[in-house]
Amino acid sequence: MQILKDIESLQQWLSEIKKQQKTIGFVPTMGALHEGHLALIKASKKQNDYTLCSIFINPTQFNNSEDLARYPRTEQKDSQMLQNVQCDALFMPQAQEIYPNQNVLQLSFGYLETLMEGKFRPGHFAGVGLIVSKLFHLVQPQRAYFGQKDLQQCAVIQCLVQELNFPLEVIICPTIREPNGLAMSSRNQRLSEEAQQKATQIYQTLLNIQILIEQQQNPLEQQHLTPILKHLTQNDITIEYLEIVDAQTLLSLEYPYPKQITIAVCIAAYLEEVRLIDNILFKH
Ligand code: PAJ
Repeated sequence: MQILKDIESLQQWLSEIKKQQKTIGFVPTMGALHEGHLALIKASKKQNDYTLCSIFINPTQFNNSEDLARYPRTEQKDSQMLQNVQCDALFMPQAQEIYPNQNVLQLSFGYLETLMEGKFRPGHFAGVGLIVSKLFHLVQPQRAYFGQKDLQQCAVIQCLVQELNFPLEVIICPTIREPNGLAMSSRNQRLSEEAQQKATQIYQTLLNIQILIEQQQNPLEQQHLTPILKHLTQNDITIEYLEIVDAQTLLSLEYPYPKQITIAVCIAAYLEEVRLIDNILFKH
């Protein structure tokens, strides 16, 4: 695997591939890789001649400097994992090269920034949009791979690609979970073993809500919601938001939910001061 530490080496590597008119699949990450990231690499390898992964802990998308400082950095292990799945190249630039100046450009995603992740992490999607735009310009892939785990991020990227005419296809891959159901996340490593067990209740809650909806019940009605919240509290889980939305628009749905749409149930919660998000999608 080629390790490309600056833009110049990235461009050299790309120029060879473009000369041969081969396709490139791109998987942007912030490192601390796990099976969820590797699933994106594997999907890209199936559909493209070459797969490039980037690892860049993007400072502009952290609205909390402590969160940025605590973000796990596991370069050696990451590059070994990528090598094991035969990723072709790893781009890991320095912040200084990506952001040489204080940035002035501000992207805004309208209503998408007023709900769920956008609402609770002000400025987060502006930062994601900026780095992903920069990376798309630098790499110019035919396809780019993102995880459904970050559903709202996928909506933001799709908006970016559509509105700025990036000539690439966005591929959304399913959420990879631990055998106990916990969605894989780089943040899980910050949880104690006991908390990792308790955190499985986050996914369980989503499944319980799906069952209620399938039984034509309103999960947000007091008689259903109270025991759901109590159960989470008993497991030391504090909810930041729990939303039932239209998976297309991410807008909140009112009961009775319309038929023939895909519903997304989205949650953000804290456990041992670690912020976790998850969602499930199902047809109604
Ligand atoms: P990061 O959190 O490292 O995630 C990189 C990609 O892996 C994202 O597309 C994310 O949705 C996907 N991913 C994470 N956990 C997953 C899981 N359990 N199953 C499937 N896919 C999963 O998301 C980012 O980085 C950044 O915001 C980035 C897009 C790189 C911009 O900085």
